[in-house]
Amino acid sequence: MRVIAFHNLKGGVGKTAAAVNIAYLAGQSGVPTLLWDLDAQGAASWYLGKEPDTVGEKASRLIKGKTPVGRMITTSDYSNLDLILAHPSFRNLDVRLDQDGGKHALRKWLAPLSESYGLVVLDCPPSLSRLAEQILETADHVFVPTIPTWLSLNSWEQLLEFAKDKKLGPEKLHPFLSMVDRRKRIHQQILGADSGQLPSRLRGFIPYASDVEKMGEARCPVELIRSNSPAAHAYRLLWKEIRKIART
Ligand SMILES: Nc1ncnc2c1ncn2[C@@H]1O[C@H](COP(=O)(O)OP(=O)(O)OP(=O)(O)O)[C@@H](O)[C@H]1O
Ligand SMILES: [Mg+2]
Repeated sequence: MRVIAFHNLKGGVGKTAAAVNIAYLAGQSGVPTLLWDLDAQGAASWYLGKEPDTVGEKASRLIKGKTPVGRMITTSDYSNLDLILAHPSFRNLDVRLDQDGGKHALRKWLAPLSESYGLVVLDCPPSLSRLAEQILETADHVFVPTIPTWLSLNSWEQLLEFAKDKKLGPEKLHPFLSMVDRRKRIHQQILGADSGQLPSRLRGFIPYASDVEKMGEARCPVELIRSNSPAAHAYRLLWKEIRKIART
C-alpha cells in the first residue's frame, strides 16, 4: 500500500481538486483506493457528492484507540474508491495529536488498511501543523500544487525548509504547477523556465479551467464533467506521472 498526500501550507491552490481527481483516476485504473478527507471543511467529500459526517466524536475516539480507522470508511459511487469523509472533529486533530501523545498516530491508523488498499490519498488542510508533520512523516510521496506566482514559490520554500528542519524526508516532496493561466506573463515565465525555481517539479501541470470549478456544482470528478477537456487530460497525465513515482 502506498500513501500519497496533496499538501501545501497555502490555501486555495488546488489540493482538494487534485486529490479527488487523482483518487478517482487511480480507482478507474483498477487500484483499490482510499481517499481520506482530512480537512474539516469537507471539500473532498462535497466534490464526491457526500456530506461531511457529523455524527459522533470521531477524532477523539480514533486517537484514544476506541475506533479503528476501518470503521470510518464508506463507499463512494465509483469503482475501487472508498472514502473517509471529513468530520468536524478533524479540526481538533492537531491539539489531540499533541495532548494524547499521538506520536506516529497517522501511520499506525493506516497500517491495518494495507491488505485492503493499494493506494491511500490524503487531502490535507493548509497548514504547517502537527498534523502536517504526521502527514509528511507517513506519506511515501507528497504532491504540492503550486500556483506559478512568486508568493506561491515562497510557500514551497517554506514547506521544503519545514521538511528539512523536521527531518521528514524533503526528497519525497514533489511540487507541480496548478491553476496555470497562460494569459498571465508570470505564469508563462515560470512554466517556461527550466524548473530552476522548483527543481523537482513534475512535468504535468493543471491549467486554470472552468471545468475544475464546475466540480463544486456537479459534485463529481472532471473526467465525468467533460472527459475531453484540457483539465481532464491534464489530470490523466498527472496521474500517469504520480503512478510511476508512487509505483502503484
Ligand atoms: N485548475 C483549476 N482551475 C480553476 N479553478 C480551480 C482549479 N483548481 C481549483 N480551482 C478552484 O479553486 C478553489 C480552491 O480549490 P481547492 O479546494 O481544490 O483548493 P485547496 O488547495 O484544496 O483549498 P483549501 O486550502 O481551502 O483546502 C475551488 O473553488 C476550485 O473550484
Ligand atoms: Mg482543500
